[in-house]
Amino acid sequence: MDNRPIGVFDSGVGGMTVLKEIMKKLPQENFVYLGDTKCFPYGSKSKETIIDLTKEGIEFLIKKNVKLIVIACGTATTQSLETVEKLYDIPIIGVVKPTIEHIIKTGKTNIGIIATAGTIRSGGWKRSILKDIPNARTQSIACPLLASMVEEGWYNNQIAKLVVKEYLKPLKKVDTLILGCTHYPLLTNVLRKQIGSKTEIINTGTYVAENVKNILEEKDMLSKTKNVNLDIYLTETEHKFNEVATALLGKKVKAKLVEEKTKLNV
Ligand code: DGL
Repeated sequence: MDNRPIGVFDSGVGGMTVLKEIMKKLPQENFVYLGDTKCFPYGSKSKETIIDLTKEGIEFLIKKNVKLIVIACGTATTQSLETVEKLYDIPIIGVVKPTIEHIIKTGKTNIGIIATAGTIRSGGWKRSILKDIPNARTQSIACPLLASMVEEGWYNNQIAKLVVKEYLKPLKKVDTLILGCTHYPLLTNVLRKQIGSKTEIINTGTYVAENVKNILEEKDMLSKTKNVNLDIYLTETEHKFNEVATALLGKKVKAKLVEEKTKLNV
């Protein structure tokens, strides 16, 4: 048994979609969430910058005494996980591997990926898919506006519909659509209307949550807390974070600012 919290990291509110799935699967766990809102969006930054920011996020969470870290960000997973997992003596999970393990089980091979520009540019999803599913056909589309729209709370309005329609125009029929950015599950309604009912839309958080459970079980590190605690830290004054996160989790969320002394990225 290990009651220390699980650390969850993203550039903003997107990682809350992953947190939500982990909380559903593991209701007795405590959590520390870090949204690096000061440096949002990660999707337009270089690989070197993403690695530095991810390291700072991980070090902040380690100081909060977490037992495992989830990089709940497609951009940070595809560009920094390989580097950072070698640097720290703590289990670090990203969003790609658990998702691909799920797709292998479905037997589906016609796969679309939508994500930030940085994620698509890195080719991280495509490489990992083809390594494990060599007969897969992939189509990748960068959707740089979508994460910012979600941060703004524009994920279920006319603007969201128009922008999603425009981004998905080049996409030919797929049987699976990976939401390669963790902000995108908030756009599921709009995406579903655009893409139809036959395509499986993949929220990576579902499979990350399973993976976290398996790892904690294996290591005998599950928590048995009765009154669970969720601490949410941001690196910049919240704009719409509390509003979007409250709507997503269905319970009141109030983020704190990272204390000045330990501030990231300064
Ligand atoms: N939620 C992040 C992701 O999964 C990215 C948004 C951003 O910072 O650009 O890629």
